Amino acid sequence: MCGIVGYLGKGNTLDILMESLKRLEYRGYDSAGIAVFHKGRIEIRRCQGKIWDLECSLKGERLDGHLGIGHTRWATHGRPSEENAHPHKSGKVAVVHNGIIENYVTLKEVLIKEGRHFRSETDSEIIAHLIDKFIEEGLSFEEAVRKAMKKVKGSYALAILYEGAPDTLIAVRKESPLIVGIGKDECFVASDIPAILKYTRNMIFLEDEDIAVLSPRGVKITDLEGKKITRQPKEIQWDPVLAEKGGYKHFMLKEIHEQPRAVTDTIRGRISLNKGELFLEDIQLSAKTLKALKRIVIVACGTSWHAALIGKFILEELCRIPVEVDLGSEFRYRDPIMNKDTLLMLISQSGETADTLAALREGKKKQVKSLSICNVVDSSLARGSDGIIYTRAGPEIGVASTKAFTTQLIALYLFSLYLAQVQGKIKKEGIKELLKELVKLPRLMEEVLAGDHEIERIAKKYVNCRDFLYLARSINYPIALEGALKLKEISYIHAEGYPAGEMKHGPIALIDEDMPVMVLFTRDKTCEKVLGNIEEVKARSGKLIVVTTEKDKEVLRKADDIISIPKTNPLLTPAVFVIPLQLFAYHMAVLRGTDIDQPRNLAKSVTVE
Ligand code: M6R
Repeated sequence: MCGIVGYLGKGNTLDILMESLKRLEYRGYDSAGIAVFHKGRIEIRRCQGKIWDLECSLKGERLDGHLGIGHTRWATHGRPSEENAHPHKSGKVAVVHNGIIENYVTLKEVLIKEGRHFRSETDSEIIAHLIDKFIEEGLSFEEAVRKAMKKVKGSYALAILYEGAPDTLIAVRKESPLIVGIGKDECFVASDIPAILKYTRNMIFLEDEDIAVLSPRGVKITDLEGKKITRQPKEIQWDPVLAEKGGYKHFMLKEIHEQPRAVTDTIRGRISLNKGELFLEDIQLSAKTLKALKRIVIVACGTSWHAALIGKFILEELCRIPVEVDLGSEFRYRDPIMNKDTLLMLISQSGETADTLAALREGKKKQVKSLSICNVVDSSLARGSDGIIYTRAGPEIGVASTKAFTTQLIALYLFSLYLAQVQGKIKKEGIKELLKELVKLPRLMEEVLAGDHEIERIAKKYVNCRDFLYLARSINYPIALEGALKLKEISYIHAEGYPAGEMKHGPIALIDEDMPVMVLFTRDKTCEKVLGNIEEVKARSGKLIVVTTEKDKEVLRKADDIISIPKTNPLLTPAVFVIPLQLFAYHMAVLRGTDIDQPRNLAKSVTVE
């Protein structure tokens, strides 16, 4: 969950490392550090805190080498502190690491017995010691890295420097993402695309156990046995401006406001309104495979799991295929039942979430076809799946997922219609009707965004509340979960999302005059029941905020506060309902003065279990 970077070239190494690290800060931000070749030596600077703290601690110091590595940390082994911050150095070797070395305790014991002295509590430091030891034993830098990688178990993305090779940077990965960027007379290493997008669009996505040796002679990639591998660079189409705040105070706010554009981009070129047809060529699953499907299993984590829960409603309604939804962290531990008629769908913004990738591996073991919905082009998930539908949200930097979520819903909607089309479950006229609603969605989202000041006003009223309950039913119930998650993660207020029908089975005990309840109300087949829940909340003096598509007098009379949203097709309602909840969480967090884009204890990509 940490971010690593590396640079080799004639540019200002320190500036490039710092700039790239800032764009990776969403992956972790409890400590940071850099190592730069300066006058023939590896100079390390690190500190507890954010990149900003590191910049301050450098106090304008100039380290003018042409080769360096950097790290922003999310602590797994060892508390956030300067000693535990990367780079870690042993002898002449400096290392930055993202991942977890599972057998570090055993390796550390052996190295200590051999007389090596450890300075940190991290698992990562053993890598520097191992490489240094093998170099001392007579191996070349590259051979030593290869030998060390054969000894360690776990996941890693590493950038490594050795004082004996002042023009070489070695990068290696296993189960943690790592990209090599190719510029003119310069090259880069980074955990993720946005880190180096400002400098180059040509990127090589390293595969597991690739070792990339970067030097002025170019980039050489081998496997752990030293066998040469050819990997073509890909040109990344993302606009670097999308990775900037563009006048917004926070990335999260910018990304909330980008949703109409992101949804439009995700639909573009994939539908014909006139013909009532869908084109999902990138899906790469044959019509024969899709026709034969009898069951779908969707696996995801966090916000992406909420999208999956909504996907179940859409797929079952449009395709009449049973859909099961599971959490990545649970899935592989229960020996899931899947056979050749099952499609395994994975949903992930980053495409690097460890538990979602583990679910993909589980699917491969059971030989089922996989289809991913993913935002990051060429991520591990995208490359490992049989089929892929890219959401075109652009880089999402705020830790709280917003535009990735709504575009996941769109991808699910498109896929459901496509599958229904392939399986002959829907007539062209039916598709036309649903597509007509879909293309109106960005405009409806704009309408909700235009009402932001009202949401801010409501947030001011509730800013001191300690707990929140979110209630909804049917396809909108996962939005109650998502609204509660957004509030928790960025404002640190305790919040629970519940299917409204469950209220009587427990949460009702929490309701009193201090407990605000956010209810999502729309006229569907469960609305009478939700009206009942509204009465029950009021009868117990609960504060009621109603988000609604209706002008229903009865509801409006009961509500303490109302957020009106426009009506759409019921299958698309979640994509509209979620926006006021994102804005509400955002304003609550602003008012409480929390760190919105980098909330405490979190990281954008959870690349460890
Ligand atoms: O990259 P992914 O979509 O796989 O990430 C999954 C979760 O870690 C992520 O959605 C997380 O819950 C967000 N912080 C929620 O805002």
